[in-house]
Amino acid sequence: MSELNETQLSSREQFQRQSANYGKSHILANVADVEVALGGIALPREGRALDVATGGGHTALYLASRGFEVTASDVTPAMLENTEKLAAERGITLQTALHVAEELPYADATFEIVSCRVAGHHFSDPAAFVRESARVLKPNGVFLLIDGSVPDGEPEAEEWIHRLEKLRDPSHGRFLTPGKWSSLCEAEGLAVVKCGTTPLKQPDLEWYFETAATPPDNRRQVRELIASAPEAAHRVFQIAEEDGKTTWWWPRLALVARKS
Ligand SMILES: C[S@@+](CC[C@H](N)C(=O)[O-])C[C@H]1O[C@@H](n2cnc3c(N)ncnc32)[C@H](O)[C@@H]1O
Repeated sequence: MSELNETQLSSREQFQRQSANYGKSHILANVADVEVALGGIALPREGRALDVATGGGHTALYLASRGFEVTASDVTPAMLENTEKLAAERGITLQTALHVAEELPYADATFEIVSCRVAGHHFSDPAAFVRESARVLKPNGVFLLIDGSVPDGEPEAEEWIHRLEKLRDPSHGRFLTPGKWSSLCEAEGLAVVKCGTTPLKQPDLEWYFETAATPPDNRRQVRELIASAPEAAHRVFQIAEEDGKTTWWWPRLALVARKS
């Protein structure tokens, strides 16, 4: 793996420290969103799949359980160790690979599927990630991307959530809009066949801080940002207080594209 840039190092440090939180009891262990996104998409019965930024390995394990020969990759060694443990517990075979999303160490046209779930917002260069994904996909291969997003045409809300997320977790990069991800795909010859958002609840700000080990002063600044949130942020994220918990809703993007 070539030398990590500052953003990639920051992600690795963050997730190395927090890896224990992303196991089978994490909300990401529920892969219903992956099933829904792939619903109605014609997939081969077998073949190779690459799960990029696999985290706790939940998407990779799902694809392996569907019969694919999966490579689960990530920039963080501890995340890959957890993925291997979970795979062993479930009696599922997969390979792990330590590398960044922006540079994939595989030959052109290697995989039937490239997936990436809830990680794209950390990447230092989303365009390079999409370019590399398109390159390693076989013709007719499927690209699946699930990530937090912001609606197109809402710059004030986008800036607000960007500041908040960066304070909560310094390894946060930027949420991209559905339009931006789609244009990155189209530029690399990936025809978008599905692209939509569904609301996903952030159920409790204190829990959300814990998952990232947010330092106390950053927590204070986040609370101030919430108290002074502009109308656009309220409209887009539906910020609320429920039983003493601060909640909001993110648009969760699911995009499926096919290589021509
Ligand atoms: C929230 S977890 C991913 C969740 C996982 N995909 C799932 O379906 O459960 C985010 C992961 O992105 C990884 N990551 C962040 N930046 C990365 C990069 N540039 N290249 C590869 N992995 C990266 C982190 O190490 C972390 O494991």
